Amino acid sequence: MKQIRHFLTLLDLSQSEFHQIINRAIELKAMRRAGEVYAPFPHKVLGMIFEKSSTRTRVSFEAGMAQFGGHAMFLSSRDTQLGRGEPIEDSAKVISSMIDIVMIRTFAHKTVEDFAKHSSVPVINALTDDYHPCQLLADMQTYWEHRGDIKGKTVTWVGDGNNMCHSYINAAKVLDFKLNIACPQGYDPSPELMALNADRVTIFRDIKDAVHNSDLIVTDVWASMGQEEEQKAREKSFADFQVSPALMSLANTDALFMHCLPAHRGEEISVDMLEDSSSVVFDEAENRLHAQKALMEFLLNASH
Ligand code: CP
Ligand code: NVA
Repeated sequence: MKQIRHFLTLLDLSQSEFHQIINRAIELKAMRRAGEVYAPFPHKVLGMIFEKSSTRTRVSFEAGMAQFGGHAMFLSSRDTQLGRGEPIEDSAKVISSMIDIVMIRTFAHKTVEDFAKHSSVPVINALTDDYHPCQLLADMQTYWEHRGDIKGKTVTWVGDGNNMCHSYINAAKVLDFKLNIACPQGYDPSPELMALNADRVTIFRDIKDAVHNSDLIVTDVWASMGQEEEQKAREKSFADFQVSPALMSLANTDALFMHCLPAHRGEEISVDMLEDSSSVVFDEAENRLHAQKALMEFLLNASH
């Protein structure tokens, strides 16, 4: 029977596979920097299904597949039958019969699970309301490049208990680090996920207490895609949850700052935060390319 590896959450990888992908991403980055052409997947086609907006995810997957010698196909729900209600099951069977690997950015996490169930090729979660695992591959590659192994370190998540926060909880489990979550009441991450990781994940209501002794501080927008109408209410709830150079000075001296981007200066970060010496956000953004190339190579080679 055909074996297919999907990547719907970080729990689809073992710790050694996660390390293997990070190491490979670092190698692929060096090869690209050296101008080496590495095109192991000629004629392979990546389908990219987007039901939400994107800059980094679209550019990194499309460029990555082109660099591999393959082709990437952008499929927006606005102009495919997906947007007109064709069932996921039928779409998955048809699309996967013609291409070699698929990435999906959508709302309900169940959509990527249903697609994967009926797909004959690997499926990658490129962000759902619940998880954003591709971003964590890039974040963890970035931490590794600047500071080495994250095992045993303390990471602080500041802000909403959203898709990124959930993927940080999974990363803490797979890579074995401690996670502090500073969020206002009413915006906690999933209670099920918290209960499963109670040994390493702690919620704080005071942002200063949370960052104390931390090696990495991460934040994200206050209102995610699909929550635009909550923006005003969230601005009030999250007013005390801004990351600034002053907050970074309360963390460990070599602490790094990350943000998946896009960022809202003056909201979740101060206007000068992205340019602070602790900020590695633009390395983090570039690493989406290298980490996802390593991921696609891993999934294509592991599925046969
Ligand atoms: N960080 C991230 O996923 O960015 P995009 O929404 O631009 O893809
Ligand atoms: N939490 C954000 C991440 C964007 C990359 C969102 O879902 O909109």
